[in-house]
Amino acid sequence: MRDFSIGDLLNRSSLYIALITAWVAMLGSLYFSNVLGYLPCDLCWYQRILMYPLAGMIAIGILRRDSNLPYYVLPFSLLGQGISTYHYLLEKTQLFGPPTACLTGVPCTIAWINWWGFITIPFLAMSGFFIITVMSLIAITAGEPHYDERRGMPWVQVALSIGLVVFTFAAMVEQHRQTTAATLSLVERPAGEQTPLSTQPQVAAGNANLATGARLYAEACAVCHGPDARGLQHLGNSLVDSPIVHDLSDEEAIAFIRAGVAINDPRNSTGLVMPPSGGRPDLRDDQLRAILAYLRDK
Ligand code: HEC
Repeated sequence: MRDFSIGDLLNRSSLYIALITAWVAMLGSLYFSNVLGYLPCDLCWYQRILMYPLAGMIAIGILRRDSNLPYYVLPFSLLGQGISTYHYLLEKTQLFGPPTACLTGVPCTIAWINWWGFITIPFLAMSGFFIITVMSLIAITAGEPHYDERRGMPWVQVALSIGLVVFTFAAMVEQHRQTTAATLSLVERPAGEQTPLSTQPQVAAGNANLATGARLYAEACAVCHGPDARGLQHLGNSLVDSPIVHDLSDEEAIAFIRAGVAINDPRNSTGLVMPPSGGRPDLRDDQLRAILAYLRDK
């Protein structure tokens, strides 16, 4: 019997790790868009185009014990890694100036998630492509998967790997459905009992810089709320007559914008997601104040 070592184990499981990663990335991105309601931008679509085929390709390659598998995978994973790295830099740095890739539809720089200040959706994609690339290189050096007449097709391992990921996401979808149902039932109180959103009088625009507000609004909010702030179908609602803009204090309105509105938020009235800070975590409080002043002045 052969000696057992961690290196051996990694060699033999490299393509299974790549398989699981591709499935997590595929179902994870579908969870973001189809369950949580985040809109994929153009660059997100290119990354999906490169990631989704890998979920099937790696499974078939392992089943056929095709030693060329890593060579089929690498062009997809390397290109995908290039695009997701570009996307991440676009989001987090000024290296490429203002985004030019997504001129129509959802801007590529909207941060739907921003966990711990650096984990965004392109970051997750970048990590996924990176793991798949490294695992494919390990498979090449280890000569995996290799054809061996005595070994049959590894149906069980492949089915278990995919099944584990599918099961986890099914549980997450179910969990989301239950919390949505629970929060919605909380809202079904008689109208009189609901606390009004507006509790404080509108704070005067004061000396806030309306021109700065207009510029920042056009840059950060107009894509969803419309160039004239009257809303855009399937993207964002009108802010011209929004009680949140007009009746809340600056602090309350800023807190609202910072938090955003998730799809299962009981206050959500559109079935669309308002990303935290409008997807621009970099906006400072004084900048949001200028946007509010501009909107109130309209
Ligand atoms: C990706 C699209 C998107 C972007 C970008 C965006 N919003 Fe929104 N916003 C929405 C959606 C969708 C809603 C409605 C959510 C709901 O149903 O409650 C909303 C709701 C709001 C509301 C509450 C309106 C009301 O009375 O119901 C305010 C205020 C608001 N957004 C401000 C902003 C500001 C300020 C910015 C820019 C910094 C911004 N949004 C950027 C999508 C967006």
